Amino acid sequence: MVNKDIVWHEASITKKEYHEKNGHKSGIIWLTGLSGSGKSTIANAAARQLFEEGFQVTVLDGDNVRHGLNKDLGFSDEDRKENIRRIGEVAKLFVEQGTIVITAFISPFKEDRDLVRQLVGENEFHEVYVKCDLETCEKRDPKGLYKKARNGEIPFFTGIDSPYEEPESPELILNTSEHERNECKDRLVEYVKNETK
Ligand code: ADX
Repeated sequence: MVNKDIVWHEASITKKEYHEKNGHKSGIIWLTGLSGSGKSTIANAAARQLFEEGFQVTVLDGDNVRHGLNKDLGFSDEDRKENIRRIGEVAKLFVEQGTIVITAFISPFKEDRDLVRQLVGENEFHEVYVKCDLETCEKRDPKGLYKKARNGEIPFFTGIDSPYEEPESPELILNTSEHERNECKDRLVEYVKNETK
């Protein structure tokens, strides 16, 4: 509940002015997928390229945000929900300020992702499913976490003993078990350029 004594102030610089200055629109590029699917790698590689080509872009990444803003949150369903809610609000601030924000969070629940979609304008939220089967993610196991989860050292690990709800109609699917990382990055960059024209 918002305190009724808190009054909303209109910003002196509008989103449209930021868009004009940057030469492109802003939006949330919401990557979702299992741990180890390649979300962070693709997000960072795409952001790097867009930045070098003059785009106003940033990355919000699961592990990093959980070191600061969301360090009080764990991995219960409720905490994951709050994790995504806060990130959605932060991403919205970036959108208002003209930035293309690429987010890399497992965000396993459809309801939570849909909530973020509703926070911003109709064409400002782009769900990107970084698709990779569990077996491949587990084989990659870049942080050794699947091994720990299988040994019972990490409870509620997504894909093992906590669910992942696949997107039903994402704007884009990047299948990292079938396509090279670089190819996925190129497809994402291409998509972002088209959608922020
Ligand atoms: S989310 O489910 O709330 O969206 P988020 O993307 O922020 O997750 O964080 C996921 C990262 O936290 C994983 O990539 C992994 O490194 C780490 N992690 C630690 N414990 C878990 C767990 N129980 N389930 C999933 N990821 C975990």
